[in-house]
Formats: sequence, C-alpha cells, structure tokens
Amino acid sequence: MAYPLLWNSIQFDPSLGRVPGRPALTRRLSDLRAAFVNQSACDQILNLGDPAVYQVTQIEDQEGEGQLHYGLGIIMPGKVGDEYYMTKGHLHAWRPAAEVYIGLQGQGFMLLEDERTGKSTALPLSADRVVYVPGHTAHRTINTGNEALVYWGILSSQAGHDYGAKDRYDFRKVIVEIDGEPVVLDRDQYVDRLKADKR
Ligand SMILES: [Fe+2]
Repeated sequence: MAYPLLWNSIQFDPSLGRVPGRPALTRRLSDLRAAFVNQSACDQILNLGDPAVYQVTQIEDQEGEGQLHYGLGIIMPGKVGDEYYMTKGHLHAWRPAAEVYIGLQGQGFMLLEDERTGKSTALPLSADRVVYVPGHTAHRTINTGNEALVYWGILSSQAGHDYGAKDRYDFRKVIVEIDGEPVVLDRDQYVDRLKADKR
C-alpha cells in the first residue's frame, strides 16, 4: 500500500495499542503454538478457544534507502502454563539492520539472541525504557505483567522480517513464572522441569 505523503504525524492510542485507520495483524494462540514449550497447556487453552495473543500495526508508508518503518505492538497479559504470552520472534531479512523498541505501557522483557554466536540475554521493556536490538539478533517480546504491554519498534525500511529462521531453531531461553515472578531459564532446563513435573 503506497501513501503519497513524505511527512506525516500519526495519532495512536497507547493503551489500546492501535493506530486509527490502520489495519492491525492479530496473532492468535494457534499461530504461536510452536513457540511455547508446554504443548499440552497450549492445547488445553485451544480446546476452549483461540485467544488473541498480540497485535501489530505496521506503518510502512515509505520505502527505499534511508527510510524507516515502524510498528505498534500490543501483547495481551496471559500465560500458557508458566510461559508468558509473547511474540513469535524474528530476525531481520537484512541481518545488519538494528531496531529500537520504545516501551509505552506495561511490563515485559525482550529476549535477544545473536544468531552468529548463540549468545542470548533478556532485557526489560516498560513505559520508561528503550531497548536497542543490534543487527544479526533474533528478538522476541514477552509480556510478564498484568496489563497489556505496548511498544513501538522502529527500524530501517529495508530490514524486512525473517520468521522462517526461527521456525528451524527456537530461542534458547524462555521466560516463565516461578513463585509469581518472571524467571529466565534455558529452554532445555525448562523442558526438564516440565518432564519432572509430569512424573
Ligand atoms: Fe524486528
């Protein structure tokens, strides 16, 4: 979709996470099933319905060298078992492209994983924080609070999204609720923990 204006000011609703007049992409739990470790907890929810987990409104009015794209994200509060609602996560198709996330409402984290080294970290994202995501870094946003987590992501118009790379291998860390608090665990550690719980 092409918009003619090179300059514009866009009004948005930071509590609803919506941009009036712009379509939002909704990701439901069924779209994210593979992202959660606890598949049986996921299926239990899906047997009752298919809740919306997050929405993204992409503003991609300008294309080409030097231009920017930006997207307003809203992740609902909720969990699948102990795992908080989160985005699918992605790398940029143009790997060197960095991105800035600006928190607007709520409490959460961003999981960052360097594709080249496998090194990963979790950084807080909230209304008083900006998270810098360097190039070559897979990123996933997680809502660990009781209200919707709302944020802007701003990046080069040439970055593109590569979801496929993360379908082949998943993030090495997960953020789960343990004793009421968000805790970062290695995925394998959490898998073992679930197995132990079933015994
Ligand atoms: Fe991104």
